[in-house]
Amino acid sequence: MGKALIVYDTRTGETQKIGDIVAEGLRFSGMEAEVANVNDIKNEADLQGYDALVFGSATYHGAMMQKMKTMLFMAEKAGLEGKAGGAFGAFGWSGEAPERIFDTMKNIFKMDMVSGPLRLKSSSLGGGVQMAQDYGREIAKKLDG
Ligand SMILES: Cc1cc2nc3c(=O)[nH]c(=O)nc-3n(C[C@H](O)[C@H](O)[C@H](O)COP(=O)(O)O)c2cc1C
Repeated sequence: MGKALIVYDTRTGETQKIGDIVAEGLRFSGMEAEVANVNDIKNEADLQGYDALVFGSATYHGAMMQKMKTMLFMAEKAGLEGKAGGAFGAFGWSGEAPERIFDTMKNIFKMDMVSGPLRLKSSSLGGGVQMAQDYGREIAKKLDG
């Protein structure tokens, strides 16, 4: 049915956990889903060959983490136009990173984005697991029909 790549940047592991659960949601919908640390994305080719791409970063000092920022500059040349997309991240109080990633995927890469970014304080708090699984399902729906 389709293949998704989830790339995360994290300092203490929360954003990775959210990415893993989003991947579960994609798989529940019949998609293949790979999860990669941003350090494993070396060039544009590593982002190619997927039907959906989902990028995540924790927010520190009001911004996304540096390696995610660098990866987004690289992704500009990966030909992601029209691909299904979503963005996510763990945050404490302001959560700018998922918003900025989402806006870049939408406005610069011209991807077919879901309704908005997923921001969670923790994957284990306040229905976080359900929300992250549902986010994966929402991305998979973009590839139906
Ligand atoms: C030094 C520091 C700065 C932070 N700055 C922000 C911030 O500006 N906005 C926010 O929403 N959360 C902020 N946080 C909270 C983190 O985003 C939160 O702990 C998150 O769960 C970390 O995710 P990670 O485990 O994926 O690194 C900050 C945390 C630390 C330690």
